[in-house]
Amino acid sequence: MSACYAVVGNPVSHSKSPQIHALFASQTGQDLTYSAIELALDGFAAGIKDFFNQADNKGLNVTVPFKEQAFALCDVATERAQRAGAVNTLWQESGRLFGDTTDGVGLVNDLGSNHGVALKNKKILVVGAGGAVRGVLQPILEEKPLSLTLCNRTASKLAPIMAAFSDYSALHQRDFASLEKHYDVIINGTSASLHGGVPDLPDHVVGPETVSYDMMYGKETTSFNAWAMARGASKALDGLGMLVEQAAQAFFIWRGVAPETRTVLEILRS
Ligand code: ATR
Repeated sequence: MSACYAVVGNPVSHSKSPQIHALFASQTGQDLTYSAIELALDGFAAGIKDFFNQADNKGLNVTVPFKEQAFALCDVATERAQRAGAVNTLWQESGRLFGDTTDGVGLVNDLGSNHGVALKNKKILVVGAGGAVRGVLQPILEEKPLSLTLCNRTASKLAPIMAAFSDYSALHQRDFASLEKHYDVIINGTSASLHGGVPDLPDHVVGPETVSYDMMYGKETTSFNAWAMARGASKALDGLGMLVEQAAQAFFIWRGVAPETRTVLEILRS
């Protein structure tokens, strides 16, 4: 029997992960299957237990809304997962459940390897304070940016994040109104683009060298990226590359083989 993997979420039918992992498997000659499993909102822990009770079932990706529950369920979580308080990749070793979060390294690799945007010594603005933002902060901070400014519509939601990352001196928080001019990279981690909205940032945060990165993606340019380009951003990137890169990291954790991501991204874009 092939080794079995899956993504669990609710809803999950829209997930591109089965297609991405099938492409990785055929490219690397790995014998595995990868499916999508929708779990009831109150059935996460039971669903995970059932899955790993089958000997051929080797690993899971976890998506909305279960990433925090996945972290809570793990016997062992990596340091970056502990920082994020969330897990998107699960596997077992000696009967113990291990968890990691690969979203942040996926974002950093997409920017750096796919788009040549290094974060070292850059002035970075991250917008949002939900799980999506918390999940990516440590890998960004580990790139040693000059500064990482966090802002959110509801400023009070930033306090627990600032506390969890207080050992990183590059991290600051600001209100929308007091943001500086011209950030090198602006990362949108809000869900505003889902509804065609844009956070109410001052126009001057975007300069001619600014790279805009929306963690969301879609067939059309996201509303955030359209906003940034209209204000003169040099580049606008969406989160499809991050999705493929986080999947590649999960694949490596499970299989010990690093898939090539560029052709997979091209297939998804077409
Ligand atoms: P997730 O876990 O996916 O990050 P979340 O916890 O619901 O989702 O967080 C959504 C984020 O998007 C929040 O930072 C939210 O801002 P608030 O904390 O002020 O609610 C942000 N967000 C959603 N719609 C927005 C909008 N139209 N303008 C600005 N921020 C928005």
